Amino acid sequence: MTKISVRVDQENVTDDVEPRMLLVQYLREKLGKTGTVIGCDTSNCGACTVHLNGRSVKSCNVLAVQADGGVVDTIERLADDDGTLHPVQVAFRECHGLQCGFCTPGMIMQSVDLLNENPDPTEEEVRLGLEGNLCRCTGYHNIVKSVLYAAELNKRGANA
Ligand code: FES
Ligand code: FES
Repeated sequence: MTKISVRVDQENVTDDVEPRMLLVQYLREKLGKTGTVIGCDTSNCGACTVHLNGRSVKSCNVLAVQADGGVVDTIERLADDDGTLHPVQVAFRECHGLQCGFCTPGMIMQSVDLLNENPDPTEEEVRLGLEGNLCRCTGYHNIVKSVLYAAELNKRGANA
């Protein structure tokens, strides 16, 4: 077992973990953060996307021990404490950017990272930025629309 200390969703946690434990397993099985989901076993779908030290990662592709000393943010703390949704969450809701919702946590975490890097993306840049995230319901059109609308909401917020 290896001891790790990580800041997850703004709380410090310390645990003994198997060196082979994946970050997604740690989040779901040890911390009960089931908002982060597993959609494949091939690192392909992006459903498990979280932020590690501010950048998006597929948490099934990272060992828990690699997060030691780092900061992990999941979909579960994206909204404010008072329940106010993040602009990307608002945009997905308003633009119907989800169908069954299974890919949505990963899509949203990837979209937040994309917009942090590129606050005013073109449609093509959004499609490229989300190419590692698969939606089995195939509603990509509304997902892309949601991200473009979130960029708009962010701009309005910045100008308010
Ligand atoms: S569960 Fe991580 S990429 Fe599919
Ligand atoms: S909304 Fe169903 S998998 Fe994307």
